[in-house]
Amino acid sequence: MTATPEIPGVFIVRHPLVQHKLALLRDRNTPTKIFKELVDEIAMLMAYEATANLALESFSVETPLERTTGARVAGKKAVLVPILRAGLGMVEGILRLIPSARVGHVGLYRDHATLQPIDYYFKIPADAAERDFFVLDPMLATGGSAVAAIARLKHAGATRITFLCLVAAPEGIQRLRQAHADVPIITASLDRELNASGYILPGLGDAGDRLFGTR
Ligand code: PRP
Ligand code: URA
Repeated sequence: MTATPEIPGVFIVRHPLVQHKLALLRDRNTPTKIFKELVDEIAMLMAYEATANLALESFSVETPLERTTGARVAGKKAVLVPILRAGLGMVEGILRLIPSARVGHVGLYRDHATLQPIDYYFKIPADAAERDFFVLDPMLATGGSAVAAIARLKHAGATRITFLCLVAAPEGIQRLRQAHADVPIITASLDRELNASGYILPGLGDAGDRLFGTR
């Protein structure tokens, strides 16, 4: 994962496997089943990088030969927060790496005419202030959905939040950094721009529709 010096707080996962799979995801001919599998795999690979700074604590462990000191992730369980719907596609892959993680949900969709996020569901575990939150959404376009989801989390007490997406537009990055400068953004790609309808170019189309076959 590399930092982008010109945009503090933004990290790009340039791992060859992630980039290879992302190109397959962009392909308009990739069918729903494969699309879903690719989102799942990329999310898992990105989560490996995104969790690199989780705090560790020492504990005593007995090997078959002797007692030694091991390390384990400290504190309360981390929370994955997919933004519905498309963020759901990233959950299972990450849970394979962090099986004990809790899963919260933020229900938001973009109004197609105004591009404003409309919220319809919110549920996260208690003790938010003591947990690490990973907000998941394949697409960061205008940034409206991410900004609103993170604001809801902060209102509920969350303080340690990371945003993970597969593809980000410059407009979304700028808006999210402005609204929540304390939230690192981890993405597999910084794309060129948004089109007039708020779709990311070159992008991968409508992530929710491609994941769930609703188009
Ligand atoms: C998509 C995507 C993001 C949002 C990004 O969801 O999954 O949540 O758009 O756009 P923004 O950065 O401009 O807010 P959509 O609203 O299409 O809902 P869906 O996941 O239910 O399809
Ligand atoms: N939401 C998507 O699913 N795709 C885009 O390109 C922009 C927003």
